[in-house]
Amino acid sequence: MENKAEKIKPYDRDADKKGQIEKMFDNIAGKYDFLNHVLTLGIDKGWRKNLIKMMASQKPNLVLDVATGTGDLAILAAKTVPGLHVKGLDLSQGMLEVGRDKILKNNLQDRVTMIHGDSENLPFDDNAFDAITVAFGVRNFENLGKGLKEMNRVLKPNGNLYILEFSRPKNFLFRKGFNLYFKYILPFIGKVTSKDPKAYKYLFESVQAFPAYEDFLNILENAGFKSNNYKIQSLGICSIYSGKK
Ligand SMILES: C[S@@+](CC[C@H](N)C(=O)[O-])C[C@H]1O[C@@H](n2cnc3c(N)ncnc32)[C@H](O)[C@@H]1O
Repeated sequence: MENKAEKIKPYDRDADKKGQIEKMFDNIAGKYDFLNHVLTLGIDKGWRKNLIKMMASQKPNLVLDVATGTGDLAILAAKTVPGLHVKGLDLSQGMLEVGRDKILKNNLQDRVTMIHGDSENLPFDDNAFDAITVAFGVRNFENLGKGLKEMNRVLKPNGNLYILEFSRPKNFLFRKGFNLYFKYILPFIGKVTSKDPKAYKYLFESVQAFPAYEDFLNILENAGFKSNNYKIQSLGICSIYSGKK
């Protein structure tokens, strides 16, 4: 299954994607949390909570949050699951800096750490983590297959992967209505607020190109995951994909 989203890039179609993604998130890091919660009307918190509930049911001790950004998922996971240790990894130093401040404010520095790195070349040993989480990250990878195989490598046998990603509503009328907001209103607010006119246009385009539902399950299987499944969130705006090593 081809992933057309690998060809969707924020600034320059002919330059490498990874460098552009790093630059884009460095640009918008200061406004990222605000825009996230405003543009989703706060619904994103519910999606993250649902993922954490699924993950917590497997009683992990050590979790890797790939593409952690400003650490929302990592911090919420540590606050929800007593004793849980979370390592958050991201390409963008700007996003990680915002995340580190939030970890200190929540007094979680003993349990949540932020690491600068690339998900396609993870700086961890094989079989290191009980679970891996990714929220709105995989769509941005330059090489999705490579990133997923790396996650498989660092997961313990029988360890669980949970991915929250936009998936495009299945209902035709809802999709049309939602896309009006997603294609026109959201990029406008994003452009005015974040001062990066390309970032929120990229968001819409990359979501349209990214494989969803069964297509994404096939990609998980090709990367070595088994028992793959998905749970639709908010009529299909997002889905939570799960798989096992
Ligand atoms: C939309 S943000 C999501 C952040 C966070 N997980 C959340 O839920 O708010 C996507 C993040 O993926 C990161 N990212 C994209 N490609 C990456 C890669 N190859 N390795 C590590 N992080 C990456 C970006 O830097 C960015 O912080």
